[in-house]
Formats: sequence, C-alpha cells, structure tokens
Amino acid sequence: MHSTLDTLDTPAAVIDVTRMQHNIDRMQQRMNALGVRFRPHVKTSKCTPVVRAQLAAGANGITVSTLKEAEYFFAEGVTDILYAVGMAAHRLPQALALRRRGCDLKLLTDSVDSADAIAEFGRANGEVFEVLIEIDTDGHRSGIQPEDPALLDVGHALHDRGMRLGGVLTHAGSSYELDTPEALSAMAEQERAGCVHAAERLRAAHLPCPVVSVGSTPTALSAARLDGVTEVRAGVYVLFDLVMSNVGVCTTDDIALSVLTTVIGHQTDKGWAIVDAGWMAMSRDRGTQKQKRDFAYGQVCTIDGTVLPGYVLSGANQEHGIVSREGVPDADIAGRFPVGTRLRILPNHACATGAQFPEYRALAAGGELALWERFHGW
Ligand SMILES: Cc1ncc(COP(=O)(O)O)c(C=O)c1O
Repeated sequence: MHSTLDTLDTPAAVIDVTRMQHNIDRMQQRMNALGVRFRPHVKTSKCTPVVRAQLAAGANGITVSTLKEAEYFFAEGVTDILYAVGMAAHRLPQALALRRRGCDLKLLTDSVDSADAIAEFGRANGEVFEVLIEIDTDGHRSGIQPEDPALLDVGHALHDRGMRLGGVLTHAGSSYELDTPEALSAMAEQERAGCVHAAERLRAAHLPCPVVSVGSTPTALSAARLDGVTEVRAGVYVLFDLVMSNVGVCTTDDIALSVLTTVIGHQTDKGWAIVDAGWMAMSRDRGTQKQKRDFAYGQVCTIDGTVLPGYVLSGANQEHGIVSREGVPDADIAGRFPVGTRLRILPNHACATGAQFPEYRALAAGGELALWERFHGW
C-alpha cells in the first residue's frame, strides 16, 4: 500500500514538489535574464532528484560544501563541481583522486599558506589543480578583501607554480541580516562590485581570472545587474524557509519543505498541543530569533499545507514539540487539534531541518509520495 500524508510515519520531512519546481524555475529564469550561468549549492538538499531538477532547468555544474557531496554527485554523473570551502591540505589526496577519475573539481583558497600547499602537492603529483580565490565582500566570514595586497600574492602562489587560477568567488552571507528590497539590492551590488574589483586587480597584474562567482539566495534574487559576473551560486532558494520569508525573498507559500507531525497530547490549561516533532526533527536552528518575526521552532500548517496564522512550534525537546498560539493561549487547543491530528511545520532553516532526516518524502501535485534519499556526514 502506498503511504499518504495521512498514513506516513511521523515525523517526516516532506518536499512539496510543485513549490520546489516553482522555486527552481524562478531562480533559473532570473539568472537567464541577467545573463549569467547558475551553479546551485547542493548542500541544502544533498538529494539527487532535487539536483537533477536544478540541472534540468538549466544549471551549469554544482557547488558543494564537502568532498562527500562531490564524491556522491560525481558518482551520479555530475562532473563540473566547485568545492566552495577553503581547501585543507589533508583533503588534497581525496581531491586528486576525484580529478584523476575525471571529476572537473575546482578548489578554493584565501591564503598563501593554503595556495602553497595546493601548488606543492599538485606539482609533486603532476596535477594542475584549478583553484578560485575567495573574496570577502561583506566582512561576514572568510576570504580576502578586494583591496588586500594578499590577493595578488595568492594569485601568484598558484599561477607562477603551474596551477590554474580559475577566478574569484564571494558569498555575501550577511544578506541574511537584511529585510528590505533597498538594503538587499545594495548588498547584491556590494557583492558584485567587490568581486569584480578583485578580478580586475588580478587581471591588471597579468594573472588569469576567467570566473567571477557570486551569490547567496537573498542577493541572487535582489541583484539588478551583474556586469562582470560570470556565474551565480545559491542553495536554500530551492526549498526556502522562514528565515528567507523574513528576509523578504519568498512568502511562506513558497516554502517547499515541511515536517509532518502528529498530535500526541495536550496541556489544555497552558494552551499546548504536544506533537511528535521536537528538535531532533526540526533541528536546533533558531534563525528567525533575531529577525523581524520570531517563529520559535516553526510555523504550524494544516496537513494540506495551509498556514495557521499565530500557531507556532513554541518549544522543542528531543522528540516532543509544543504547538501553541502566540499571544493569548488557545483554551480550545484540544478541540482544534485532537490527538491524532496531523500538522505540517515550516522550518526556520531548510538546510538544517533536512539534515535531521535520512530521506525526504516528495509530495507530487496529485498527492502521491515518493521516497527521495538524502545523505549527510563528511
Ligand atoms: C560559498 C557559498 N556559496 C553559496 C552559498 C549559498 O547560499 P544560500 O543558501 O543563501 O543560497 C553558500 C551558503 O552558505 C556558501 O557558503
């Protein structure tokens, strides 16, 4: 017998395939209109059918955050892979093995030390690694600032010793802290201009810089122009989540991931319904806490995905979640959500919630459910 949302064991991570496809098409059309290649970040889903849908829509290659993702998707037939985390020397043998097997794996660095390690290992093994330099355009995380003299030192450390300098890459992660169209488009322009400037400096120093790669979901969806950029990366857009709805780049009706859960009890005096989705299902991510609207552990929806305004997953133990109404407690919570009621919870952060599950349940428009495996670990 086929499972339905009424019979599936809970908690379960459900992907609404219609919403996912809409999100994929929206991003790809935007990138096509801006005239840039699109390289989705697959760390959000770590799931083959999702990545296949992204490539089918027109994506060029993928971005990964672990070499395990690279191994997995290379085995699935994807060859153009950008490993967008600074290269650690102890992973070079694994990167080499992937390249020897035909994977067009590109590496990332933001220091002379790491560039030296890549170049030395490459030369010792007769391998020309393609390496991008990470640029810090918003002070958010790693990377070299566009004006930093170290940029040219890293460029020379790679190029002068026979490695292929692939270009520059930046990720304006601080865009997650913004929530107005003006601030978002200004950040997209800052990300673009900083990365293009870094590329121009390399070229002025007679160093090659074919790729200029930028992107985060908020900036990718807010950029008005991308002159000088060759490719954009984005990850969470494929499923979206409450953090992104607070940023303002999607609505809650675009969120393709939800956790199906069952009501297992009540504390009527407190206005609580207890459900079987705790933090083990939702993750501990409280990304909306510092945003304009705090959804606690998630937004409660009916089984068919309709948002129930004001009802949130207000608390989470390992396997227990607390559903309650914000503001005035619901004295009729047991009448509204009797034991056995199935609800769906929209997550704060799709990447973190997905990572709690070994598989997704893909919900097609007709209500059929398919099992989509996902992987985790390093
Ligand atoms: C290097 C890099 N590129 C792209 C992304 C995708 O960002 P988002 O999930 O906001 O689309 C990330 C996410 O952390 C990242 O680290």
